[in-house]
Amino acid sequence: MEETLAGRPLSSEDRRRLDNLHEKLSYEATTFLGYPCNSLFDYSPLYRFLGFTVNNVGDPYVPSNFHLNTHDFEREVLDVFRQLTHAPADSFWGYVSSGGTEGNMYGIFLGRELFPDGLVYYSEDTHYSVNKILRCLHVRNIMIRSQPDGRIDLEDLRETIRIHRDLPPIIFANAGTTMKGAVDDLDGIRRIFEDLAIQRHYIHVDAALSGMILPFVDDPQPWDFSGGADSLAISGHKMIGSPLPCGISLAKRSNVDRIARSIEYVGSLDTTILGSRNAITPLFLWYALRTVGLDGFRRRVEHCFETADYAIERLREIGRQAWRHRNSVTVVFDRPSLETINKWQLAAHNDVVHIITMPHVTRRQIDLLVDDVANDVANNPIVPAKETANP
Ligand SMILES: Cc1ncc(COP(=O)(O)O)c(C=O)c1O
Repeated sequence: MEETLAGRPLSSEDRRRLDNLHEKLSYEATTFLGYPCNSLFDYSPLYRFLGFTVNNVGDPYVPSNFHLNTHDFEREVLDVFRQLTHAPADSFWGYVSSGGTEGNMYGIFLGRELFPDGLVYYSEDTHYSVNKILRCLHVRNIMIRSQPDGRIDLEDLRETIRIHRDLPPIIFANAGTTMKGAVDDLDGIRRIFEDLAIQRHYIHVDAALSGMILPFVDDPQPWDFSGGADSLAISGHKMIGSPLPCGISLAKRSNVDRIARSIEYVGSLDTTILGSRNAITPLFLWYALRTVGLDGFRRRVEHCFETADYAIERLREIGRQAWRHRNSVTVVFDRPSLETINKWQLAAHNDVVHIITMPHVTRRQIDLLVDDVANDVANNPIVPAKETANP
């Protein structure tokens, strides 16, 4: 076989390995209920762009020397999120990030730059990556108790802030916790600032999943810029869905200007955490927003709630405790057997597990899961759940 600078064809052994991988992924996709990654997408019309060395290095709002980029499309995506999050018209900035963790790191980075003496508060139910972010940024922090339903305990927060009232609080709030889909009470958090006369404060909201749910419900809990957020992180590969992880990082421009540095090498402003940035994911997000549309996402979210309620009803029929928060597609229920957890890729924590009824989840899959859980119950009498809360 001829070898060129572009390389050589794959061996038959390697081709077989890829076929096996494809077969395995195709099977695993049929039992994918535990994680909030929508698999209802088709980006095949965009595959031709994978042939370019595209890179969105630099600030999406600043022209760059690196012309193979998709900044125009990235800005259009951001503009949709500007509207969905009620961002201040005169002070909005954002970029398409690599995912939730980077967006959360960005928010805390901005808060820390604004208040170098700030103290970060976050609840026990916060995503595990936040601890690592705080270590990377070397910022003082205190973990606050959670209520049993997963929301931050405002009494514990108030008391802790009161003790440290000389330091500006940087709140890491959740709009949809990983395990229980809880939305922290932003009104309550702001009331604490008012009651304690705290004027220097920052709120970052991790809206990884619910940032694409709450804009489409009639009675959203306060979660966005209009609710007091200074920055937000929303995931792209969760409710929108993408085979390439990505996220949307949003902030007030006035805060971003403080960290911007001009870089001659790329002819742009260094306002993002990463240097080279994915230029395909903004295209995917743009394509999803264009083809599904905001009305389509509203219908999808309604459909997800219906599937969640169906799952709750079916699980309760077989004697399991099952519940979800208002405006959440995360269904929490008593932990089944390890075999069932593995088969359905359920996320588990202490005595509970969850499924997340994303757009690709069908009632047929729920029925099959419930059959497995019912078999567990038949083989193993119910162990009462310790920490389940039914709000
Ligand atoms: C609430 C929440 N925040 C942050 C993350 C981290 O997101 P990523 O895995 O995209 O970095 C997750 C991931 O599941 C999450 O559920």
